[in-house]
Amino acid sequence: MTDVFMNTYHRLPLTFTKGEGSWLTDTKGRRYLDFTAGIAVNCLGHGHPALVKAIADQAAKFNHVCNYYQSDVSAAFAEKLVAACSASGMRRVFLGNSGAEANEGACKIARKYSLRKYGPGRYRIVTLRGSFHGRTITTLAATGQDKFHRDFGPFTEGFLYIPGGDIDALDKALDSNTVAGLLIEAIQGESGIVPQTPEYIAAAAKRCAERDILLMFDEVQCGVGRTGTFLACEAYGVKPDIVTLAKGLSGGVPVGAVLAGEKAADVFGVSDHGSTFGGNPLAAAAGLVVLETVNTPGFLAEITRKGGKIRAEIDTWRHPAVKEVRGRGLMIGVDITQDAWPVLEKAIARADASTPGLLILSAGPKTLRFLPPYIISDAEIEQGLGILQGLL
Ligand SMILES: Cc1ncc(COP(=O)(O)O)c(C=O)c1O
Repeated sequence: MTDVFMNTYHRLPLTFTKGEGSWLTDTKGRRYLDFTAGIAVNCLGHGHPALVKAIADQAAKFNHVCNYYQSDVSAAFAEKLVAACSASGMRRVFLGNSGAEANEGACKIARKYSLRKYGPGRYRIVTLRGSFHGRTITTLAATGQDKFHRDFGPFTEGFLYIPGGDIDALDKALDSNTVAGLLIEAIQGESGIVPQTPEYIAAAAKRCAERDILLMFDEVQCGVGRTGTFLACEAYGVKPDIVTLAKGLSGGVPVGAVLAGEKAADVFGVSDHGSTFGGNPLAAAAGLVVLETVNTPGFLAEITRKGGKIRAEIDTWRHPAVKEVRGRGLMIGVDITQDAWPVLEKAIARADASTPGLLILSAGPKTLRFLPPYIISDAEIEQGLGILQGLL
């Protein structure tokens, strides 16, 4: 492994050279079953034929045009994406490159909406404790976890954290007449696959509507079908003002999206926002394949079924090391009685020329996290869970 990368990641000692479906192969030819999908990115697995073809075909035409113009492929992607989110009231989209960038865009829209309508002083963005919204100075400020706030201040001001699930705290925060937006992950990913309750989301939607505060869902990890509905917020029956997406949206090509409903769709005007690579034709070509695949009839139901299968299978073990299994669709957290990281290490260390390893994630010190590709087969699920059971 090279040491020229800055030391920002707690990496496991593996270097991959090849992928196929739900499998990755390392430099020594050892194979690993992928329950991570690159942290919810490779939603169609590795080397998906239609995705490969779309990217290659687009690369042969052009990789990029500047935002003075539109490209046919980016326009088609934007239209399909807005249509895919229309059940949640989305009307327009801004395309960028990452989840953090999408959340920055969302915060800008909330602030401009409030400033233009109510004047200065109503600029705060409320987020939840345990949330994760990105690594830029502003999205770190939005992230409601103290451990991310060491060393990098001063941060963008105007973020306020409240505990998820606490409607009194929500009321108190939103009643201050200083709030422009509420930014929520319907299911928190990084802090352990923590779903908000329907009652809490309904209360948040009601209170935001009453106070004209923008309700913004960060669906960077839980969106694009991962939880069995195209947007996770659909399952809560609420219509947000803004939704952010990234990760799985282009199946592995960098992308980010800020979608806006009726209230927020026209807040950004010319020169308010921009991004050189935003709406990049390669990402758009890949994104079109993801949207088409995920919206094929029955595809989302399969995600729900496969997730149910994983959770039910782990329940049948009645394993003393397993405390709780949570999540929806193929976004699953498993609380265990031991530290998670050594389990990740053992899951890869078992691999040799004839024995596969297993790639899993952690989310917090004692939580395993599974975000497998949507195309994972029942046999692969059983194989991966068999490996995990042996390790626990
Ligand atoms: C919910 C959520 N929001 C935002 C981000 C940041 O996305 P990115 O790393 O693409 O900037 C992440 C990344 O893990 C995330 O899970």
